[in-house]
Amino acid sequence: MPSILVTRKLPSSVLAKLCAIGDVDVYDGEAPIGPAELKRRIAGKDAIVCLLTESIDAAVVDAAPGLKVIANVAVGFNNVDVEYARGRGIIVTNTPDVLTEPVADFTWALILALTRRLSEGERLIRRGGWKGWALDFMLGTDLRGKQLGLIGYGRIGRAVAARAPAFGLRVAFTSRRPADPSGAEPMSLDRLLNSSDVVSLHVPLTRETTHLIDRRALARMKRSACLINTARGPVVDEAALAWALKEHLIAGAALDVYEREPAVHPDLLPLENVLLAPHLGSATKETRTAMAELAVENVINVLRGRPPLTPVS
Ligand code: DGY
Repeated sequence: MPSILVTRKLPSSVLAKLCAIGDVDVYDGEAPIGPAELKRRIAGKDAIVCLLTESIDAAVVDAAPGLKVIANVAVGFNNVDVEYARGRGIIVTNTPDVLTEPVADFTWALILALTRRLSEGERLIRRGGWKGWALDFMLGTDLRGKQLGLIGYGRIGRAVAARAPAFGLRVAFTSRRPADPSGAEPMSLDRLLNSSDVVSLHVPLTRETTHLIDRRALARMKRSACLINTARGPVVDEAALAWALKEHLIAGAALDVYEREPAVHPDLLPLENVLLAPHLGSATKETRTAMAELAVENVINVLRGRPPLTPVS
């Protein structure tokens, strides 16, 4: 029977499918499994189902000489050293598609909440600061007629774009793709940054996208523009962002992901013009179950000698 490590509790119906085909070792701590414990428990395993909170680096891979598959329960796989794993003949899988629509919905939740100052208003009420309705009180900005600039135009970027007509925005995107049948306009990063009213990030985290949004990029944005990050924290230089928000070089930002989760750059915390969410993009019961199910199906397929459903390409 194959031996499988699961680094966090999974829905019981999903776990049952794994238990039916192998010996399953579930790490059930509240916090993510630490690197030493991970290396200890992965030894002798044929498969691992892991989360984005675990770093599956060369040392972890080396600790499991018989490992056949690393099934990451996330669409992003920057936590896995894919090249190293591949070099060792290990298949790496992720969970695309099942979270595309929920993450796009959540991106719009952030855009709307930020431009209509929802979390700022809620904080004001909770600290007893609301003095009542006034014509000029806590005014946000309209979206209609503005430009949504998408940096990254893969599955999630396109799903975010598909919702834009409902709110009256035109869409621009950075992509190597020449044109888009939806009417969205491809443009260079610089042009997108200085012409968009809302800039939303949908790129994977790679060497090239680390700190893609730095001081220089922020300084190129309109002073009235907002930045949304539901991709990966390190795509944005948080210290630079805090500086830009403090200096009002941009109007606001909504973040769901951070450079060193769960830590948030301390300079961001006192700012009213930033909305901070705790990495909730795909966090619906249905979606998280579907992500876990897909990861488990990938493991089952590989262990049965079949191709995985969603290998990392
Ligand atoms: C992912 O799948 O990469 C998401 O960040 C998880 O919420």
